[in-house]
Formats: sequence, C-alpha cells, structure tokens
Amino acid sequence: MDNDTGIDDSLGLLYLLASPEAEIVGIASTAGNVPADRVAANNLALLDLCRAPELEVALGAAQPLAIPLRTTEDTHGPQGVGYAELPVSARRLSDRSAAQMWVDLVREHPGEIVGLCTGPLTNLALALRIEPELPRLLQRLVIMGGAFNHPGNTTPTNEWNVHVDPEAAKEVFDAFAAAPADRRPIVCALDITETIEMRPKHLALLAERAGSEPVETVTETDPPEARSAASNPIVRYLTDAIRFYFDFHLLYEKVYLAHMHDPFAAAVALDPRLAVTKPATVDVELAGTITRATTVADWDGMWEREPNADIVVGTDPELFFERLVSRVGDLARATYPPQEGPQSR
Ligand code: RIB
Ligand code: CA
Repeated sequence: MDNDTGIDDSLGLLYLLASPEAEIVGIASTAGNVPADRVAANNLALLDLCRAPELEVALGAAQPLAIPLRTTEDTHGPQGVGYAELPVSARRLSDRSAAQMWVDLVREHPGEIVGLCTGPLTNLALALRIEPELPRLLQRLVIMGGAFNHPGNTTPTNEWNVHVDPEAAKEVFDAFAAAPADRRPIVCALDITETIEMRPKHLALLAERAGSEPVETVTETDPPEARSAASNPIVRYLTDAIRFYFDFHLLYEKVYLAHMHDPFAAAVALDPRLAVTKPATVDVELAGTITRATTVADWDGMWEREPNADIVVGTDPELFFERLVSRVGDLARATYPPQEGPQSR
C-alpha cells in the first residue's frame, strides 16, 4: 500500500489489516495530505493501534517530482488524522526508500504483488524510473486518483492525488501503455469514489459490531473539541478521525458525510469483482493554464493509442459498506475484546 495517511487512507489501511486474505508486504509513505514524515509516523502509529505484526513502513520522497509539495491539513487535520491523536510509535522505519521498496518487492515476488496507491504517485513514478519492468512485475495496480466525467475536488478539473504530483501521474499512466490488458491499472476516480458516502450511521454500526460502548452517533452540532468516549480504542480513533472529515464535507459540500475514496480502492484491490470497469487511454494535462493536472480519458480510441487503464464505472456502495463495517468492526473487537471498564490503547 502506497498512501498519504490521511483520514481515509487510515481506514483503507485498517481495512487491509482487517482482511484475512490480505498480506501487507510493504507500506510506502507518500507526501500528500500531510508531509511524508508525518504520513510515515501515522502509518507506524496505526500499526500500534491495531497491535499489528512488524510490517515494513518506508519513507517516500519529501517533494513531488517537479513542483513544491502542497499539503491539505484543512481536510485531514493538523496531524493528518482529523481530531484524533495517536501516540508516537517506537517502531522503526525501513532503511530503504519507498521507491526502492517498491522495486525490491516486485523483483523478489514477480507477478504476485497487487500495488495499491491511495496518495500521489510520486514514489511509484520514482520506482518506475529505477525499474521500467515494474508494470509486468506487478500482478495488478489499483490507483485512487483522477476525475473523468466528474468535477475535481481540488480545482474544477483536478483530483487531489493527481494535483499534488501531476508529472508522477503522467509517468505512471504512460508506463502502463505497453502493459497487457490484465495488468492495466484499475483506476478508482472521483466519478466512483464520490458515490461512497460514509455517514454517522456507519460509524455507529461499526461500534456495535466491535462491542464498543457507548455506541455514539456523531452529529454536525458536535463542537470541534468533542472527543469520542468509545471503550474500544480503534472505534475511538475512527470516530475522532472521521468526524473531522464529516465537518470538512459539511463546510465545503454542505452535507454531513465523508467520501471514503481510499478504503474503496483497498476493497477493490482485494476483490476487483466489486468494480465494473471500462478500458480507456488516460493521460494527464501538464501544460494547461487552467487545466494543468487534469486527467483525461479517451474511451473510444480517438488518440489511436492503446488503453492503459481500466476505469471503475460502477459499484455497489452498500455492499462495500457491509464489508467495511463487518471487517473493521471485527478487527476492533478482536484487538480489544469487550470487557468491563475503560481500556488503554
Ligand atoms: O481526492 C481524494 C484523495 O486525496 C484521497 O486519497 C484522499 O486521501 C486524498 O489523498
Ligand atoms: Ca489518500
């Protein structure tokens, strides 16, 4: 998983940790929502919260390929995990860079690894520069990014992950031009991820599944300083993190919900049957004045270029939420079994 943890990235990571069929072989920390070192610290702290086994977490590049880093603490909170605060982890970061970890892992396990990118594509692009064969050494790649027949969330046409590093996005899509059809990146763009609308009821269902008490229903009238009193530390974390995301969506989109972009991409990475896809040739505008960092899909071969992506055009959001709530709720219950009295982290 290559992420920019981030509130929804963190739920995507928990989804993978909660899924028995997933073996996480590496976590790459990419600068995006917050700086790379903050992303890495969040990844390590989340592994502690979930009492996960030792997993390799690698630090990515401090800056995008060609432009200064832009972060978005107003969307994900000062630490990148909303209102939540995670204790500093004693776990150590990997000695190798995120890009080198990508390259070493796909060379060690040719054809076996599914790459999941839920942040800017900076480190995957750097890995492709080291190992151009990477598209054929991966089993599959799933990307959360882009917006096609759908408005942007950062500029009128930009999606955030591509906006942060458009040069990297272009290098990644160009690199997959020659990939065989079954190796094309599965692209979860805003077109589909903005149909994945998490609401307070989903948090309450997750708390119930976890046996956490009390079962809280967060509301738009909760003050910013409110904090969850859930007995289960994972439920407490998710409530404090996601409430920040609800508040952000209320402020900018006037609805109290949260688009769960990254956990959806994680669920597709584990089970592509969740997604209906359509092949297209994707390219990224780099030179436009008002359109720079826009992802463009040629669905009909107008550019006379082979498709380099399978874009998700359909899914069943409720089926996704059933899996999210049951898996992460069960992870929370198993990690912190319900018992009398308050629990430490
Ligand atoms: O545009 C949504 C994407 O940008 C998500 O991955 C979110 O975490 C941010 O990285
Ligand atoms: Ca992300």
